[in-house]
Amino acid sequence: MLHPSKIEISKSAFKANIKFIKSKLKKGVRFSSVVKGNAYGHGIEVFVPLAEEEGVDHFSVFSADEAMRVMRVSKQKPDIMIMGMIDDDSLEWCVRSGFECFVFDFERLQKLIQVAKNTGIKAKIHIELETGMNRTGFDEQELDALIKLLQKNKERYVLKGICTHFAGAESLANYVRITGQKSKFRKFNKKFQKAGFEPEYRHTACSAAAVRYPDTQMDLVRIGILQYGFWPSTETLVQHTANVESQSDPLKRLISWKSNVMSIKNVNKGEYIGYGMTFLAQQNMKLAVVPVGYHHGFSRSLSNLGRLIIGGQRVSVVGLVNMNALLVDITNCNHIERGDEVILIGRQGDVEISVAAFGELSNRLNYELLTRIPLDIPRKVVL
Ligand SMILES: Cc1ncc(COP(=O)(O)O)c(C=O)c1O
Repeated sequence: MLHPSKIEISKSAFKANIKFIKSKLKKGVRFSSVVKGNAYGHGIEVFVPLAEEEGVDHFSVFSADEAMRVMRVSKQKPDIMIMGMIDDDSLEWCVRSGFECFVFDFERLQKLIQVAKNTGIKAKIHIELETGMNRTGFDEQELDALIKLLQKNKERYVLKGICTHFAGAESLANYVRITGQKSKFRKFNKKFQKAGFEPEYRHTACSAAAVRYPDTQMDLVRIGILQYGFWPSTETLVQHTANVESQSDPLKRLISWKSNVMSIKNVNKGEYIGYGMTFLAQQNMKLAVVPVGYHHGFSRSLSNLGRLIIGGQRVSVVGLVNMNALLVDITNCNHIERGDEVILIGRQGDVEISVAAFGELSNRLNYELLTRIPLDIPRKVVL
């Protein structure tokens, strides 16, 4: 292993998650796998082929570069939908590549129409409607002009979808806002229908909406976090377990992050450990040096706080997390040697460090923590 740590992605966990998600979807609803943010840190290059093997044929990304990465590694010509950034100069390439793209302002629509005129290839578009998230999407007062422009240029595009995104379906605190968004979307949908449009997919649901508000599933769902084995919020998990007989979590985490002990060091009572004076040895101590630091995505905020697993035992980070290394206290552990496996996220025997626990300590959400795991840590699929 050249890199100081590695990431393993579990195929069986993904299978279990897909089975669970499908059990939650109404008949005929298409599943789009959201792989933006480097497949939520799992790695587009390993995750996409794995998902394809399990029958996934639609991927959603944020930007054109991510679409290119999905296209390069996919084997079964999936549909690829870009929900966010495409540089104007890349629009023609996107159309020629057959990517579907969100259209949320007149500038992008005009430019796509022009590209379609120049190339003779119809642009595959999803019209995004502003229902209350206030991020991207056409406002209600823009709809008449939008419909006119679409009617005038019918030969230039394929209307793959109309869509919107909810502003926090994972939290009950947002119930009123989400309900308002749902009814606005229905109203806008009627307007499109009246104007004679028949989009292939009406889609609004992310993970939380798909499980909490099943009526938002419509024709297609855009599922990210659930497929990787995480709940969008603890509230969503609690709501799920309250409604089913089994109290166990049906989701399985795909990701494990592992390293090895680089060196072992003995420190005398009364000595400070690492940079500065944040940790004073109160007894003679034995430490393991782990070659992972904040450069590798292990937050400095976990200094004197984080936990890892070595030799089937939970051990604590002592001193400051360095750029490339951290120290853990193994004074009371049996038989730990240089080269022993270290678990940063995942399971060893009966002991587990979940991303949620890791996230709570470092005050970061699953979403943020996962997507911050650096691109260059080698990832491989395991059974
Ligand atoms: C437009 C859009 N759709 C779907 C998703 C997927 O969300 P989740 O990971 O909660 O399923 C996201 C993620 O933030 C998004 O921005």
